[in-house]
Amino acid sequence: MTTSALELHDVHHVYPPDVQALRGIDLTVNRGEFLAIIGKNGSGKTTLAKHFNGLLKPTNAAGRVLVRGAQGARSETRKLRLHQLAGTIGYVFQNPDRQIFHDTCAEELAFGLNNMRTPANEQEQRIARTLSLVGLAGCEETNPVQMSRGQRQRLAIASTLVMEPEVAVIDEPTTGQDPDEGRIILEFLAQYNAAGRTVVIISHDMALVAEYASRVVAMRHGHVLADGTPREVFGRTDVLEQTNIRPPQAAVLAARLGLTNVLTVPEAVSAMAASRNASADEERPCMS
Ligand SMILES: Nc1ncnc2c1ncn2[C@@H]1O[C@H](COP(=O)(O)OP(=O)(O)OP(=O)(O)O)[C@@H](O)[C@H]1O
Ligand SMILES: [Mg+2]
Repeated sequence: MTTSALELHDVHHVYPPDVQALRGIDLTVNRGEFLAIIGKNGSGKTTLAKHFNGLLKPTNAAGRVLVRGAQGARSETRKLRLHQLAGTIGYVFQNPDRQIFHDTCAEELAFGLNNMRTPANEQEQRIARTLSLVGLAGCEETNPVQMSRGQRQRLAIASTLVMEPEVAVIDEPTTGQDPDEGRIILEFLAQYNAAGRTVVIISHDMALVAEYASRVVAMRHGHVLADGTPREVFGRTDVLEQTNIRPPQAAVLAARLGLTNVLTVPEAVSAMAASRNASADEERPCMS
């Protein structure tokens, strides 16, 4: 049975004086999903994600955002304070430097744990484990200003994952990263997800979305335009046209070669190999 982690009912958000960023969102995020939110710049992705952890509240009276805590009870974000939600829904900002403000990586990660009153002996283990998960093992005493942007991005994500939230929301985790770094980030988010937690990313990288997400929500002008598996959403030409989204290059190339149902590079490789084998097996006329 699927259990909801988050439920949004009729959520509107208007920034003063009159920017309608969300125009009636109904969305349920299920526990254990790896959800990718996609859409053009300004379509409302960040505004939507900031409602998940109560950073923003619906501006209409009827709008409601319900969060299910570890004990299973649902609470409305409007009735909770931010720190009460921090252990349940973690949010990583679009720009990692907005949330890094300590002199060492260990202090950066300890900040959230201190707020959650995690005992000191447990903190050390959790910090080491999380730094290792994000490929920063042994960087406890490193000053974040000496690290690359990619490393700071991973540190920002680590500072959220260290609190082991039920739902981790990461706004554009791979922007500004080279492809290898982007993949490293998606790999550790996949590991976090495999441990039974819910991961939500906002991304413009369709190849990574196709490979890692179990569900895709496409936004347009503050609405949910499409919601389904990557195969369903990337298969809808109307959605791709309206959002200016180009499907993953592997899918485009495979379609040109006449191969259907291909989204990722590994799928393209298997489909090409299968098509080669099929043509090798074709009966040929005997030569006289
Ligand atoms: N603090 C704000 N004050 C006023 N308008 C805002 C504010 N933040 C966002 N907006 C507007 O709300 C709309 C949705 O913005 P949002 O940042 O949610 O989009 P997005 O899909 O995350 O875009 P991007 O891909 O560029 O990050 C846009 O028109 C944007 O200009
Ligand atoms: Mg955004």
